[in-house]
Amino acid sequence: TDRYAVVGNPVEHSRSPTIHAMFAEQTGEAVAYERLLAPLDGFEATLRDFAAAGAKGCNITVPFKFDAFALAAKRTERAQLGGAVNALRFDSDGWTGDNTDGAGLVNDLQKNAGRPLTGLQVLLVGAGGAGAGVLASLIAAKPARITIVNRSVDKAQALVASHGHLGVPLVAATLADAPAAQDLVINATSTSLAGAAAPVDARVLKAGGLALDMMYGPKAQSFLDWAAAHGAEPRDGLGMLVEQAAEAFFFWRGVRPDTAPVLKAVRATL
Ligand code: ATR
Repeated sequence: TDRYAVVGNPVEHSRSPTIHAMFAEQTGEAVAYERLLAPLDGFEATLRDFAAAGAKGCNITVPFKFDAFALAAKRTERAQLGGAVNALRFDSDGWTGDNTDGAGLVNDLQKNAGRPLTGLQVLLVGAGGAGAGVLASLIAAKPARITIVNRSVDKAQALVASHGHLGVPLVAATLADAPAAQDLVINATSTSLAGAAAPVDARVLKAGGLALDMMYGPKAQSFLDWAAAHGAEPRDGLGMLVEQAAEAFFFWRGVRPDTAPVLKAVRATL
């Protein structure tokens, strides 16, 4: 049996062990997946011990995705562009870092929500770690335009500069200048943590559009209510969570789990 883990601080609330146990059972892969709490000043030592014990890889969650990026000897292009790593594979010739969050988001939108991104007007709210991490994958799905808004607009401008060559028009703006009536609104800010909806005016929403918050559970509720109240289809981040896990499972094992029954089962435990 090959060992994997989710490494973070805090990490006890993580649903990744449950999800990967279901993937392992479904695919017959000999995978054991645990939770690993790393001290805030001991992330690298925790990883080295885990790898030395024979583990094959890990997921990385708050607040270590940037440290994981720095520790990776090799990185996939999407991880390189996002500046963050949420999955490491302990290859014998060095650690490879990937970022599966964006592919997870896009797969959830296209496959689970039935919303092809091609040709859509997309608003990405938040240019912090979470927003930066998914941008390359959003671009790869070929929307018509992505507007990136952030409280500190310089971070949105930096993302436009780093991703502007990838073939989709990108625009940076302040929260107040967010464009109206977007087909897809993605909240990648941490404002839901404080129980607020989203830091943009409801005119960004449109009837029949989709509005997704990367949070799930009670934390996402005010955003979902806000979106629904303005006629958009609300969606939480649980599908993204399961899809990013499936993408990591594929990165490690070369096998793609069927996510639909797993999302259903995890949803039932919320
Ligand atoms: P994460 O990894 O979750 O993205 P982060 O990098 O700290 O964490 O980013 C948090 C995001 O939430 C940022 O977009 C942040 O805006 P700033 O870059 O201007 O700080 C945004 N955010 C947090 N609190 C906010 C608030 N009260 N209003 C608007 N945006 C907020």
